[in-house]
Amino acid sequence: MRKRIVAGNWKMNLNLLQAKQLLEEIEKGNWGSEVEVFLFPSLFQLGHLQGTNQKITLGAQNFYPAEKGAFTGEVALDQLAVEGIQWVLIGHSERRQYFNETNAVLKTKLDYAIHQGSKVIFCCGEPLEIRENGSHFKFVKNQLEESLFHLNAAEMKQVVIAYEPIWAIGTGKTASTEQAEEMHAEIRSWLTEKYGHDTAESISILYGGSCNDQNAQELFACPNIDGGLIGGASLKADSFLTIINA
Ligand code: PGA
Repeated sequence: MRKRIVAGNWKMNLNLLQAKQLLEEIEKGNWGSEVEVFLFPSLFQLGHLQGTNQKITLGAQNFYPAEKGAFTGEVALDQLAVEGIQWVLIGHSERRQYFNETNAVLKTKLDYAIHQGSKVIFCCGEPLEIRENGSHFKFVKNQLEESLFHLNAAEMKQVVIAYEPIWAIGTGKTASTEQAEEMHAEIRSWLTEKYGHDTAESISILYGGSCNDQNAQELFACPNIDGGLIGGASLKADSFLTIINA
């Protein structure tokens, strides 16, 4: 059975007090053991939030792939590990777009994280012009081939994939359930080709991009959608809890 996951990506939002309050409100929710809930707050808040939190796994939005040293403004996996942080996001389209993280850079980050024993949510997804010219499968497959598919099957088990079409992120424009399920099924078929049926069936694939309390249930009912990576709708306890319960 694949893990069902709902992950909130708070991006660069909320001050520490707001983050603590929101975490507390979300923690009041009742959800079963069939779903795992993750939150990715601002890096500096991780240590403060970790101590108070019982039910939610916290992860880091970013890290730098080196042990330590002169990398001003960056954070190392060892520094995160001291705070009990095991999970990291890699490949988010905002990191690709604003911080020039290419497929090659992401491969380096991924390898570093995997070899340190971290667990990864690896994001992929196409921009609007690629969707419109119909080459979205090829584009996403290329992202995965250049950054991810060199891992062996055991290493792949440390990874959750998130499909996030860029044209749907923060735009209010969700991929239709058909568009999302079609891409997820395609990703699963590539995993089957590379790693075989059992590994492919064990890897969770999340959908992200304007997923909210209105559309989560329909999206999560699709056979290849194992949960969501949620931006805007994770910033309000009630909408995030509705998504978790979906
Ligand atoms: P959104 O963001 O839910 O606000 O569209 C999703 C994401 O960037 O992970």
